[in-house]
Amino acid sequence: MTPAPGPQQKIGLIGLGLMGRPMGLNLLKAGYPLTVWNRTASRAEALVAAGAKLAKSPREVAASADVLLTIVSDPPALEEVLWSKDGALSGLRRGSIYIDSSTVSPALARKISAACAERGARFLDAPVTGGTWGAEKGELVFMVGGDAETFKAAEPLLGAMGKRWFHLGPNGAGQIIKLAMNMILALEVDALAEALALVTGAGIQGEKLVEVMQSSMARAPVLDVKAPLLLKGEYAPSFPLRLMHKDLGLALDLANQIGVPLPATAAARETYSAVKGAAKEDLDYAAVMKFWKK
Ligand SMILES: NC(=O)c1ccc[n+]([C@@H]2O[C@H](COP(=O)([O-])OP(=O)(O)OC[C@H]3O[C@@H](n4cnc5c(N)ncnc54)[C@H](OP(=O)(O)O)[C@@H]3O)[C@@H](O)[C@H]2O)c1
Repeated sequence: MTPAPGPQQKIGLIGLGLMGRPMGLNLLKAGYPLTVWNRTASRAEALVAAGAKLAKSPREVAASADVLLTIVSDPPALEEVLWSKDGALSGLRRGSIYIDSSTVSPALARKISAACAERGARFLDAPVTGGTWGAEKGELVFMVGGDAETFKAAEPLLGAMGKRWFHLGPNGAGQIIKLAMNMILALEVDALAEALALVTGAGIQGEKLVEVMQSSMARAPVLDVKAPLLLKGEYAPSFPLRLMHKDLGLALDLANQIGVPLPATAAARETYSAVKGAAKEDLDYAAVMKFWKK
């Protein structure tokens, strides 16, 4: 039986990338006993130094946990940690809760939900927004799909890593909203890059556009963060372009399945694709600006 919600619950965390590491550190700070696994074991060092236990496999993490949490890159990565030999699903405890915060397809979320039900575990798709700084400050926003009772049971844990959590419907609903959210962010940054290309091409400093934009209805928090990076041409990955490209693909796949045309998203994905194809290193999605700076 899962202990009452709170720091006495044992947590398992799989995926210690840009997001998973700070989320794990916040769980330790909140007093949760934490067991972790990452494909590249060296990425677990900071968490182990802060008190986490390092498991030998995803299965061992799941077997140790009242609540299992995963946050890995994409659908193939998630399928691998769940279904490969010594995958997490084979170790999942009856009565436990499994929360996935990776951004994947709603169809995969529903498939995982069915696999959890077969094992007597409850599942929430709970992708996040807020970026690496949100993960570090414990100010993530969770978009959650699943049943209301499981959502309620997970709230204290989500509160250790986030500032808001929304229950949006059955399994898959969190992923649907997340994909729509990332479409908007991708289009906003792509639009800013395109407008900067126009302004600078016409002989006016990009800073002038940003200055006016900040006093207009075009102002948006994402542009506060990304505009200085576009102006300086600094693209160290915070939300990597390869992941934004993946999310636009997932949104377009969903749109195809349900017959909703997304012409602006399709065009933006072409732009992100061109930059991704030419990139030699891991870049932030602000690097969409490079499309105009070849
Ligand atoms: N970064 C952001 O600002 C942000 C914001 C919101 C949502 N997200 C979403 O959160 C998820 C994680 O993002 P991130 O920024 O933390 O990505 P990341 O830094 O690239 O980390 C990806 C994680 O997935 C693991 N992984 C990749 N392929 C794997 C495989 N085949 N088997 C096992 N593990 C595998 C990586 O392991 P290794 O260390 O071994 O490579 C790493 O732990 C993504 O779905 C992303 O879209 C990210």
